[in-house]
Amino acid sequence: MSAPKTRLASWSALAEGQPQAARAGGVDLVIVRLGDAPHVLYGRCPHRGAHLAGGCLEGRDLVCRAHGWDFRIDTGESAQIEGERVARFDATLDLAADAVLVDEAQIAAWARANPQAFDEDELSKL
Ligand code: FES
Repeated sequence: MSAPKTRLASWSALAEGQPQAARAGGVDLVIVRLGDAPHVLYGRCPHRGAHLAGGCLEGRDLVCRAHGWDFRIDTGESAQIEGERVARFDATLDLAADAVLVDEAQIAAWARANPQAFDEDELSKL
């Protein structure tokens, strides 16, 4: 049996090649619609933490707006800086529901192994 999926975004609301911010399981994410596939990566740049949704797509590389680090949307690995990468999460498309779906348990497991510096969900309650 496959893991339950969580709706992350409306497919029709995503512009081709335009990174969009999202959150799931307490984790900042970036979604990129490219062709007929959604790509979901960890949303914070490992350099200084800028949100990658503010970046731009160059080919299949997501480029951080702050200092230009890049990450392949297919793998999360940097093409420029050896050993740097962001996590890439499984994402599926449900066209009938107009939904990009993710496995929130997968993201939450990653978050447990990679504690976030700030808990936006808690901060939003203040
Ligand atoms: S914060 Fe992304 S390149 Fe510096």
